Amino acid sequence: MIKIRNLWKRYGKVQVLEGLDLDILTGETIVILGRSGVGKSVLLKHIIGITKPDKGTIDVDGAMVSELSGPALYKAILHMGMLFQGSALFDSMNVEENTAFYLKQHKVCSPEEIKRRVEEALTMVGLEGTEKKMPSELSGGMKKRAALARLVVYRPSILLYDEPTTGLDPITAMHINELIVKTQKELKATSIVVTHDILSALYVGDRLALHKDGKIAYVADPDTFLKIEDPIIEFLRKTISQDPRSFRNRPLA
Ligand SMILES: Nc1ncnc2c1ncn2[C@@H]1O[C@H](COP(=O)(O)OP(=O)(O)O)[C@@H](O)[C@H]1O
Ligand SMILES: [Mg+2]
Repeated sequence: MIKIRNLWKRYGKVQVLEGLDLDILTGETIVILGRSGVGKSVLLKHIIGITKPDKGTIDVDGAMVSELSGPALYKAILHMGMLFQGSALFDSMNVEENTAFYLKQHKVCSPEEIKRRVEEALTMVGLEGTEKKMPSELSGGMKKRAALARLVVYRPSILLYDEPTTGLDPITAMHINELIVKTQKELKATSIVVTHDILSALYVGDRLALHKDGKIAYVADPDTFLKIEDPIIEFLRKTISQDPRSFRNRPLA
């Protein structure tokens, strides 16, 4: 359980977070929707502790991440993994080396175990056979998959995704949505997905939240969320011609 209370953050003249509250339940996939620039990425960076609030607290499974630093912070966020917006692969390493990076660096397990886990992670994201490819040889969708493999390989219990489908074509985006659901099931993780893509939100989310005016304006199950009378939600609703949940369990070709 993640408890965010009265979170305030200002950058220069821009008041980004204005008393934001949110509870994230263990095992759920919560989607945070919102327009560009509202502070969604800033919120994720607070949850993993790399950005500190001006005021307010973030409690992750009993650890006050908003107040920790150094080794204590490191320990508290060890079981968290974040998929950054730009994938952030290491350009000079191939797919296999990228995937193995954290396991090697933190000496989590033996070389044989690393090899096995890397294979497993790459199979899970559908990248088997691309071990020796460099990031520059990968398409946008494959880069996302590789970044996801690098994440799931150390089996985090909390996964944060920053705009996982942004910039991808609709079919590739739907494949990434499938992967997010699959990862959630296999790791039995808690997932926080930030996006402005309502189709992705409905596909993966157990609950949807709207980030607006520095706060979480609403949080609800998908059906209740879509009925909320709010200009942004109304607009999102109008862009949906078919409920993306109808694609679940019907893998795309
Ligand atoms: N490190 C930073 N320094 C200054 N301003 C920042 C920083 N990070 C984010 N901001 C500002 O905070 C606001 C929210 O940014 P962000 O969280 O990236 O929005 P989004 O919802 O699109 O992810 C923007 O106005 C952005 O310019
Ligand atoms: Mg962002």
